[in-house]
Amino acid sequence: MNTIPDETVFQGADVAGGGRFTQPKRAGVMPTKTLGTLGTTSAIGLGLMGMSDLYGPSDRAESIATIGAALDAGITLLDTGDFYGTGHNEMLLGDALHGHDRDRVQISVKFGSLRGPDASWLGQDNSPVAVKNSLAYTLQRLGTDHIDVYRPSRLDPVVPIEDTVGAIAEMIQAGYVRHVGLSEVGADTIRRAHAVHPVSDLQIEYSLISRGLEGEILDTCRELGIGVTAYGVLSRGLISGHWSTDRQGANDFRAHSPRFSGENLDRNLALVERLRSVATELGVSVAQVAIAWVDAQGDDIVPLVGARSRERLAESLDAVDVELSAEQLAAIESAVPKDAAAGDRYDAMQMTALDSER
Ligand SMILES: NC(=O)c1ccc[n+]([C@@H]2O[C@H](COP(=O)([O-])OP(=O)(O)OC[C@H]3O[C@@H](n4cnc5c(N)ncnc54)[C@H](OP(=O)(O)O)[C@@H]3O)[C@@H](O)[C@H]2O)c1
Repeated sequence: MNTIPDETVFQGADVAGGGRFTQPKRAGVMPTKTLGTLGTTSAIGLGLMGMSDLYGPSDRAESIATIGAALDAGITLLDTGDFYGTGHNEMLLGDALHGHDRDRVQISVKFGSLRGPDASWLGQDNSPVAVKNSLAYTLQRLGTDHIDVYRPSRLDPVVPIEDTVGAIAEMIQAGYVRHVGLSEVGADTIRRAHAVHPVSDLQIEYSLISRGLEGEILDTCRELGIGVTAYGVLSRGLISGHWSTDRQGANDFRAHSPRFSGENLDRNLALVERLRSVATELGVSVAQVAIAWVDAQGDDIVPLVGARSRERLAESLDAVDVELSAEQLAAIESAVPKDAAAGDRYDAMQMTALDSER
């Protein structure tokens, strides 16, 4: 990975106003990382969810331009789900990829979450029949003949993971899928899945304020050679440095998220101000320091950023040029200690669906 330009000096979080401010600007080749069986991928991936769902209104033209800008910048890993806008996100990606070389892109798709026509959440179906049926529609919506990584979005409480992975393995044999992925599952499920077919990567929320990956789950992934795609690296915008109390509308996931509610929000935004002090000393933005911290946790951990505009993407891209020393990492963790966040990362009902939290 490239480093912060030499002239940028970090003088410690306690040096009020003493740092020299240099904003990194992306100019070079996109660094790469390795994600299990998927192999080489861009050091940062783009998550498309917010372009269709959960974060309020989005702009179609800007979404397509943002995906194009990501590809131009060397991002190869694009993450979507068939239930993001009930197919909308996949159709958007299919349109955005028009005219691009399909083989230079790695498409990661989640399936299994069931939605109603009113956008309600109806449960999970990871049965072998659902795997094949969902995949057939996904291929049509994306206008492609294969998916690079196919993963159940959550563990289905009634379908053994072996059956789900077995069905994906059949689709790999048939040439429709290249790799098996997992999402928000714990160590036992990872082992059971991997015993059926090698897993490329676990997708899981991971940020300065969501550290559940660390310990048993990450140790298991590393033991088995499984990579991690980290989502929510900005905690859905909360630790981006751009969040304000008047941001979320009624249809926004964040309107119902414990971390964005009442006193919890005030306490979490106070943490962001502590992070801002460190970022200022480093000469980078709050979002960049939050992304760079995740990036620094391993060459097998790829941050997925949820940028919905070229402006946000540009800010995120600069984070891959920020290399943090041990002293700087310690200053960041001292500003935002592990478990400092107020409130869970999902509401109580959604927390119970997370195998990774058991
Ligand atoms: N496996 C799972 O269970 C799961 C769950 C959730 C997401 N994901 C995947 O992970 C991806 C990323 O997750 P996420 O959207 O929650 O991540 P995130 O990057 O933590 O949050 C994205 C939000 O942060 C805001 N933001 C502010 N400054 C930004 C900046 N400089 N760069 C990027 N975003 C900035 C954006 O808001 P504005 O655009 O409004 O400024 C956007 O709404 C999703 O798109 C999806 O593909 C997976």
